[in-house]
Amino acid sequence: MTKIISAENISKNFNNGPWVLDNISLEIQKGDFVSIVGASGSGKSTLLTILGGMDLPTQGKVFIDDEDITVLKESRLAKLRRTKIGFVFQFFNLAPYLTVEENIILPVILNGGKKKDYTKRLDYLLDYLGIAQYRHKMPSKLSGGEQQRVAIARGLIFEPEVIFLDEPTGNLDSKSSQNIMELLAKINAELGTTILQVTHSGKNAQYGNKIITIQDGKIIER
Ligand SMILES: Nc1ncnc2c1ncn2[C@@H]1O[C@H](COP(=O)(O)OP(=O)(O)OP(=O)(O)O)[C@@H](O)[C@H]1O
Ligand SMILES: [Mg+2]
Repeated sequence: MTKIISAENISKNFNNGPWVLDNISLEIQKGDFVSIVGASGSGKSTLLTILGGMDLPTQGKVFIDDEDITVLKESRLAKLRRTKIGFVFQFFNLAPYLTVEENIILPVILNGGKKKDYTKRLDYLLDYLGIAQYRHKMPSKLSGGEQQRVAIARGLIFEPEVIFLDEPTGNLDSKSSQNIMELLAKINAELGTTILQVTHSGKNAQYGNKIITIQDGKIIER
């Protein structure tokens, strides 16, 4: 087993307020599919954001591939987010005035890359995620499940080692939820992408090979 992410004694508070995360340590191995569960307000999204280098812990260290990301310069962190990490959110966060394919390629453009260098990757992802027929459509013409597949494709554009998902099915009906979860299991098994998802659903949590339960900012079960 190869470790991909580790957190050492991370704690987080906002503006000197109460501790939202309280001395959390964990290790995630390459190829893991981890589900983070817990009540609303327990600190799940905060933990995911810190593990993905989108925010800093108040105390403690986070390592991705043995690199302490809490001390990285913003430019290096941006590169790491670009190359190693993909993010997917509950509300899809697609740009409404861009087509499906423009949305998927957007991270490339934002990073100063050229669309033509990614056309093969784009075609592959559209096909792999079953959304090729929508490539020139606007997101508003798609169902929630289809929009979330577009968001997943966008998260995979740089072939990340890890994909972070915060309540990826929180806005979907049960059939679409199951579809998305099966797709994530397929991505994990076939592409070897490490997956970290936050979920409220016990059923969705079961797709993970590890379940981490958070209560009041502490891990109470793993
Ligand atoms: N930027 C912030 N500033 C101040 N407090 C925050 C901030 N972000 C989160 N919190 C607080 O931290 C606690 C944990 O929030 P977090 O969003 O991590 O919970 P969660 O487990 O993801 O909840 P939910 O299931 O409702 O999404 C909450 O009490 C929240 O109000
Ligand atoms: Mg949350």
